[in-house]
Amino acid sequence: MCGIVGYVGFRSVADILVDGLEQLEYRGYDSAGIAVKCDSDIKIYKSIGKLKNLREELKNHVGEFEKSTTGIGHIRWATHGAPTVINAHPHTCNCGNLVVVHNGIIENYKELKIELEKQGCKFKSQTDTEAVAHLVALKYKQAKNLTEAVRLATKEIQGAYALCVMHNDYKNTVVVTKRNAPLLVGIGEGEFLIASDVPAIIKYTKKAMYLNDNQIATITPNSMKLIDKDGIEQVQKIEVLPWEPVALSKMGYKHFMLKEIHEQPDVVRNNLSGKLHSATEPVVLNEVKLDKETLKKLNRIQIIACGTSLHAAMIGKYLIETFCGIAVDVEASSEYIYRRTVTDENTLVIGVSQSGETADTLTAIKQAKARGSHILIITNRPDSSMAREADSLVPVNAGIEVSVAATKSYIAQLMAFYLLALYMAEVKGSLDNSLVQSVKNELMLLPQKIEQVLANTEDIQKCARKYSGTKDFIYVARGINFPTALEGALKLKEISYINATGYAAGELKHGPIAMLDDTMPVLSILMKGSIYEKLLSNSEEAKARNARMIALTNSTDEKLNDLFETIIRVPDVQEFLSPIIAVIPLQLIAYYIAEFLGKDVDQPRNLAKSVTVE
Ligand code: AGP
Repeated sequence: MCGIVGYVGFRSVADILVDGLEQLEYRGYDSAGIAVKCDSDIKIYKSIGKLKNLREELKNHVGEFEKSTTGIGHIRWATHGAPTVINAHPHTCNCGNLVVVHNGIIENYKELKIELEKQGCKFKSQTDTEAVAHLVALKYKQAKNLTEAVRLATKEIQGAYALCVMHNDYKNTVVVTKRNAPLLVGIGEGEFLIASDVPAIIKYTKKAMYLNDNQIATITPNSMKLIDKDGIEQVQKIEVLPWEPVALSKMGYKHFMLKEIHEQPDVVRNNLSGKLHSATEPVVLNEVKLDKETLKKLNRIQIIACGTSLHAAMIGKYLIETFCGIAVDVEASSEYIYRRTVTDENTLVIGVSQSGETADTLTAIKQAKARGSHILIITNRPDSSMAREADSLVPVNAGIEVSVAATKSYIAQLMAFYLLALYMAEVKGSLDNSLVQSVKNELMLLPQKIEQVLANTEDIQKCARKYSGTKDFIYVARGINFPTALEGALKLKEISYINATGYAAGELKHGPIAMLDDTMPVLSILMKGSIYEKLLSNSEEAKARNARMIALTNSTDEKLNDLFETIIRVPDVQEFLSPIIAVIPLQLIAYYIAEFLGKDVDQPRNLAKSVTVE
């Protein structure tokens, strides 16, 4: 979702800002802009579409800003008003002396706008952000001090925001603040870099300070002063960012998504390392801070997440209920936060998020925390806002995921659930020892099996090509792979825009079967195990309605050849572990269909990598 960069220092600022924005591109955006402090005034440059358009625009004005060393920039994902140049950030007050970039949503902007218009402010855009520019400018007239103006304005703003503000009266100064949206300040020698996410600044510094909610930082090339909402001076910890700039390279792959799919064997290895030593030794999960006595008595868990993370959560439910006998509810965060949810200090609440910044999940976590629940966070970003709320933090170490479509972070989340479920089962003694050992043995074999799938993609590519002309796609599965069907369908929808739906196969005959005819592909995730025969029967029912049947299977059963027009075979795997092996071909089918259709695989339309608005 939107991205912010800012710079105060000695380097030519425009390149730094646009380079920084490029590092945030993967989050998804539809317009971009920068504001730079020049000798006599602040100059603003904006464009719609990709950053290359902004670069083109800047080429026409190089002489105006090449000496400038202070500025702020933004990529926008439209929420209020269409993606137009006028709605792109930065936004200004009436006289243009004050500029603002903003991530998040100002919830009371309509009320603010009415009030500001009464006071003579003229709005040019349809954005919520413009209200902030006018409000801070009015406060500046009273306070005659930019930091104080920002502080006073934030008292009247409701909602989520990360803000960077500049004023023409200040030669080399940016004032920043945040509430419920991430913002960090990178610290260099004689320079500071401001960003909503690490990749924008990591090329310049590994030292950074994460702002807490309501803190305000006033930044000049040689100083940073931090205050809280009452104006009291603050000291904030400086952290060393565990990041390498090389992480954002495609390493020879055509798209980040394909690279990330191919990284999955290593993601599994990383997650097992230090946690699972052998089949006979207990799982080590030092990250779980609930003491063992509490864990033994635990009888209720809630898991909250969105999108792909929600699908990982659904498999987590299956594993924890089966291995530990603990009741688990799974709910989309966006639903959880708008009803009276029953949770208390006896409930373990697990938040799952690749980005650790998803606004709905963050709000849900905060609600549960306020009711006394122990919060366990499974995330790929140990430096995220959600991680900061965690009582127990289980980082999944997938490395940065650039493609908007989550792949390796999903596998990493699943690994976290396997380890967590086994760990809890061992603490509770709830699972037969031989089953524990066989699951562990299978876990250790997973990387080679994923490598086998990735080494033989010809059938998958053929399948993708064969069905790429379809308008609709159905995925069916049962049991532990029902969420795999949902995830396969989500991947296809996201990057190819084909209408794909996942169903629990037993539900087909309760409605969806009406849609089946000889134009409809139905992909059955037919993994051997307790539910195999049932799913086979459901597939027969679909075949009887002339659907174009596809099997994704680890079975060598000959009779499948009559039932399915296309069969994708994967290595044999124990049923519990089958979601990991089954999802890889589904990721690849989605990838190859989108690639074949010429879609923007890594940055699909309308989507953002980190959804920081509710
Ligand atoms: C996954 O491919 C999607 N981009 C999306 O559904 C995503 O999983 C969802 O927005 C949740 O994000 P999170 O894991 O960062 O919280």
